[in-house]
Amino acid sequence: MAYISTEWKGTEYFPIHDFHHVEYFVGNAKQAVHYYRSAFGFEPHAYCGPETGVRDKVSYVLKKNKQYFVFTTPLSSDHPASDWLKKHGDGIYDIAFSVDCDQTAYESCVSRGAIGVDKSTFTSDENGEYGISSIQTYGDTIHSFIEDANYNGLWAPGFKALNLPDIFCPDTALITIDHIVGNVVEGKMDDWREFYEKVFGFTTFVRFDETDISTQYSALKSIVVRSKNWKVKMPINEPASGIKKSQIEEYLDFNEGPGVQHVAILSDDIIKSITALRANGVDFLDVPETYYDNLENRVGKIDEDMATLKKLKILVDRDEEGYLLQLFTKPLEDRPTLFIEIIQRKGSRGFGQGNFQALFESIEREQELRGNL
Ligand code: FE2
Repeated sequence: MAYISTEWKGTEYFPIHDFHHVEYFVGNAKQAVHYYRSAFGFEPHAYCGPETGVRDKVSYVLKKNKQYFVFTTPLSSDHPASDWLKKHGDGIYDIAFSVDCDQTAYESCVSRGAIGVDKSTFTSDENGEYGISSIQTYGDTIHSFIEDANYNGLWAPGFKALNLPDIFCPDTALITIDHIVGNVVEGKMDDWREFYEKVFGFTTFVRFDETDISTQYSALKSIVVRSKNWKVKMPINEPASGIKKSQIEEYLDFNEGPGVQHVAILSDDIIKSITALRANGVDFLDVPETYYDNLENRVGKIDEDMATLKKLKILVDRDEEGYLLQLFTKPLEDRPTLFIEIIQRKGSRGFGQGNFQALFESIEREQELRGNL
């Protein structure tokens, strides 16, 4: 049964202020950047590569309001990102956090059992001080800790401004990263909850299982951990057994293991966002017409016009604190793995549990078309 607690029961060993950025590994960053600019309205920010003295990879940093997405492509088969891409395909490699001291964060996490990836690298130059370290999380995903409060450069040492030709894109009103969801293998969700509680001092916020979310065929279990200040919210899913293959299993098969399932981006005007994204050709999960029958009875009075929500196929869910509006893209790669959620919160701190049933049915129709159900 569903469990929701807004009480803080964690231990803040060191403050995690917010998501700092996400870094993707992609086969062709130059083209991925074009897509995230033209479809989602990101803007060019910073770059490193051969032109800045980096020989083995390119990284493009895109910005939209308060969020940064980094796209990295290895330039040779020897680069570790090439092995990562061979296994997983394009996806998110790093969920980076903003901290006061990257070295303290690293040592603190490792002392409680985290596996280190990169020890602290600290740079002091004409732009100030910059520190970065990283640890391992689920699958081949890492968490970097970024210390840049006293850094005045554009992005990080070694990066220069990214100048690209203009692209016309209406404002997508996408503000910041709201939450990032991971898929792990069956039976491991609670191990990862423990990891985030023990290593980061996070608290468990929401839990739901197959009695809350299921269709005739497949189900999932989910748990959400969060930071003390609510800025970092990380749901973790595992498949639950059903008659047929669940969407989480399909992800795990095609990603060849655990990894990031979706990034939810907060909008301050979801009607504006979805109108722009649909005009830009973003492909969203289909919502059955019947979803809008009796919607007002389910969610009560809301500020938005129901006919507009129905036209744009935006989903609504309500809990004790308020309501939220959301919509999910189809997978953004040819492997049915990573996708993006657009969410607007009107008081609710939930994740749209009330929509999962309708969504599952939609996801299963897509799975069936791929022959994976
Ligand atoms: Fe979500």
